[in-house]
Amino acid sequence: MRTVMGLMLMAGLTLPATTAAAQDAARGEQLYATQKCSMCHQIAGKGNKLSLLDDVGARLTKEQVHEWIVDPVAAAAKATSTKKPMMPKTYAKLPPADVDALVAYLMTLK
Ligand code: HEC
Repeated sequence: MRTVMGLMLMAGLTLPATTAAAQDAARGEQLYATQKCSMCHQIAGKGNKLSLLDDVGARLTKEQVHEWIVDPVAAAAKATSTKKPMMPKTYAKLPPADVDALVAYLMTLK
């Protein structure tokens, strides 16, 4: 009985966090599609090969990915990126929860 309680407690403490992250990433994947990121980016061979995001979660920190989405001008300057067309600034207007979901998704790409 004690073991069962212990397991339930562990599950109660760890499951919500994992599930929330997975849900965020899943929503981020949908947003990636609806926001048409693939017009300029490629993941798993799909989209524009201008910029490949296949291992972006391994190359960048989540702070850097976040900055690319909300302030691409600053991010491009730091990365000394000269690729054109430049990333649009319009994503800064997305609800913060959507930006977080996009970041969660991109960080799963390793
Ligand atoms: C009009 C083209 C365009 C669109 C649309 C676009 N981006 Fe970008 N993005 C770029 C360019 C150009 C870069 C710089 C790539 C480089 O220099 O390697 C970039 C860089 C990035 C990077 C950093 C990549 C790296 O390898 O360091 C991330 C992350 C990113 N974009 C995410 C997104 C997301 C998420 C969306 C959709 C919400 C999006 N982009 C839509 C053009 C675009």
